[in-house]
Amino acid sequence: MVVLISGTGSNMAALLDACRSPEYGAQVVAVGSDRPGAGGLETAEEEGVPAFVVPFRDYADRSEWDTAMSDRIADFAPDLVVSAGFMRILGPAVVGRHAAVNIHPALLPSFPGAHAVRDALAHGVRVTGTTIHFLDEGVDSGPIIDQVPVPVEDGDDEAALHERIKTVERRMLVDTVGELARRGWTVDGRHVRLGRTGP
Ligand code: GRF
Repeated sequence: MVVLISGTGSNMAALLDACRSPEYGAQVVAVGSDRPGAGGLETAEEEGVPAFVVPFRDYADRSEWDTAMSDRIADFAPDLVVSAGFMRILGPAVVGRHAAVNIHPALLPSFPGAHAVRDALAHGVRVTGTTIHFLDEGVDSGPIIDQVPVPVEDGDDEAALHERIKTVERRMLVDTVGELARRGWTVDGRHVRLGRTGP
């Protein structure tokens, strides 16, 4: 897989850890970012995983950036792209060419977008959570693969709640990507099934 990050990359680090075991069934072939300063890039390089950056500001528009990102990903020929804390919307050049999943810190379709944890708190929900889904051309809108709930606790602020969600996310991401790698998947409309079909 190629993992895309924009920041700390703790989800990416959890994937790198899991991939140390051959039974896991997957490998990270590269880590990519839109931000040269993304902390996780150093983590990847320390682990001997190639890291690349496709900075948004180097391209005339979103579509040129998207094409450059898609080509850079293709250089590593991954079976799967994992968007794990990648804060830009990937367009048709990427999602039309590469199977890609995204991890989102809310129970979609509630609270899509960049401020999911803040929005859930502001709405006053008692339970939020995390979702892993296939990417399509919308914002956090593709077919859902798995979700795990996380209760909101009295006194939670955005940082505390996000940290608890991220603890759950790392486990869910590692489990789900492992299952996808070992068993394959079928997407039928909005429904995702693990395991390959066909001859
Ligand atoms: C995660 O909560 C992810 O769902 C969201 O951004 C956060 C990334 O955290 N899109 P990290 O960079 O993996 O620590």
